Amino acid sequence: MENNIQTFDSLRWYAQMGVDLCVEAEPQEITAILASNPAERASSAFAGDTVRAAAAPTSTAERVLFQAAPQAKEPLSSIADAVAEARRLADAATTLDELEAAVRIFNGCSLKKTASNTVFAQGVAASRLMFIGEAPGAEEDRSGVPFCGPSGQLLDKMLSFIGLSRAENFYITNCLFWRPPGNRQPSADELAICLPLVEKHIALINPKIMVLVGGTATSAILNDTRGITRLRGQVFSYKNDYMAEAVPVHVIYHPSYLLRQPLAKKQVWADLLALKAALTA
Ligand code: URA
Repeated sequence: MENNIQTFDSLRWYAQMGVDLCVEAEPQEITAILASNPAERASSAFAGDTVRAAAAPTSTAERVLFQAAPQAKEPLSSIADAVAEARRLADAATTLDELEAAVRIFNGCSLKKTASNTVFAQGVAASRLMFIGEAPGAEEDRSGVPFCGPSGQLLDKMLSFIGLSRAENFYITNCLFWRPPGNRQPSADELAICLPLVEKHIALINPKIMVLVGGTATSAILNDTRGITRLRGQVFSYKNDYMAEAVPVHVIYHPSYLLRQPLAKKQVWADLLALKAALTA
């Protein structure tokens, strides 16, 4: 990477926006690149920053702007406004197409500003088997299709072993419709802002069985702070205000976790067999 002022300025801007990885031949942490610049290192404001925090301003004018600029956290009123707008759109949508259109025009989630595409859903809505993951990753953001990257391919492969394919008999979406920059963990605010739309999504699919993929989706939808290690292997009951009846919910490890921890596939296999049994009961 070229070591010039413009490059470091751009990187600082990306870091402020929450982007933490820069992909060249090899992924590199933006804070590490910034820290390699002596001017950045000399600044006390930069020292000890976390990945998402911005690097230090270099001029007085920039310092003033830097202090005045909103950081990653939105002011409370704008979060409440965004949730209210999402709720209003969700209330008004009476079909899946209307909901998708509502999600596409919704500007309340700031992730939309950095995303290339809205990622709504894929699969057979009429199957009434609904999988919900966390958020789009890089490939999903490029293509607009959920779970199409490496973890999605692993998920598809595992589900094919129990006779499931999104072309035939399941439907898949996420808790967020836009990619968090650098694939960072979604914030509680982002999840809360999108939740009304996700709730309506669930109600419109009206699943007979719902599967939550990974810890983030599980805690966001079930509103349960216990970790996925505790929750997997159990069947929960879920209902929101748009739904007439509760739906049974299975919880599985996220495939990206399995890519890092292949030994956990054994537990997922047990969970998938339980899902298959529930589907054929
Ligand atoms: N991980 C998710 O949770 N969802 C996707 O769509 C892709 C990766």
